Amino acid sequence: MTATETIIQIEDLTKIFYTDEIETHALSGVHLNINRGEYVAMSGPSGCGKSTLLSIIGLLDTPTGGRYTLNGKEVANLNFADRSRIRNQEIGFIFQSFNLIGDLTVAENVELPLTYRAGMPSAERKRRVQESLERVNMAHRMRHYPAQLSGGQQQRVAVARALAGSPSILLADEPTGNLDSKNGEAVMKLLQELHSEGATICMVTHDPRFAAHAERQIHLFDGKVVAEGELNKLLAEVEA
Ligand SMILES: Nc1ncnc2c1ncn2[C@@H]1O[C@H](COP(=O)(O)OP(=O)(O)OP(=O)(O)O)[C@@H](O)[C@H]1O
Ligand SMILES: [Mg+2]
Repeated sequence: MTATETIIQIEDLTKIFYTDEIETHALSGVHLNINRGEYVAMSGPSGCGKSTLLSIIGLLDTPTGGRYTLNGKEVANLNFADRSRIRNQEIGFIFQSFNLIGDLTVAENVELPLTYRAGMPSAERKRRVQESLERVNMAHRMRHYPAQLSGGQQQRVAVARALAGSPSILLADEPTGNLDSKNGEAVMKLLQELHSEGATICMVTHDPRFAAHAERQIHLFDGKVVAEGELNKLLAEVEA
């Protein structure tokens, strides 16, 4: 493993959503390289394409144009089974809207992605569920349902679910969005630990204090990656 090996390589990526008569250009030519083991924070105004980009990086959605190479393989050439396997075994998600399943308990939610892993014994799954819930201080709520938890607690369960699979790539969309500063810092500490264990992390955050935890900060504006100075200028123009 070398420090400069590119794990995520994105060239001229575009994404257009078609709804009724409207075309939304969510991504308009994104260029981005992320090295293995790197910790990147992503920011930019609401609607600029951050979640869309994370979904494509995480193989949950496909681009309209451009090229995405993950781990040296062009994603467009992967078949359905390869995509599912990579998503399940290598990628962890913390979604902006948690995506917890209401009919499952906290423990079952955390265990769910592990049940798709061929060959992981039940005892190993239970051990990981326990350990990851302990890491986010939610082990005492194992048998609760998501609706019985506060927003911040649901967020922590979503973090535990992502950690349980020991992903090599963690994609986090506003992982601290619903947390007070103490819990937000606790999540940052977990991401830092995962990072020091070698994981590649891409985190969307609006909060510069949290972004400061990353090694590199990138900024999106109108579906493109822009430099920090450029972003500030564009935002000043928008606000004027
Ligand atoms: N499934 C979809 N169908 C149609 N349009 C969509 C869809 N998903 C996103 N968009 C549009 O694409 C653009 C980018 O959305 P995206 O969710 O990536 O923004 P974002 O940067 O994550 O914003 P926020 O900070 O508010 O979460 C927006 O204009 C949004 O309305
Ligand atoms: Mg978003």
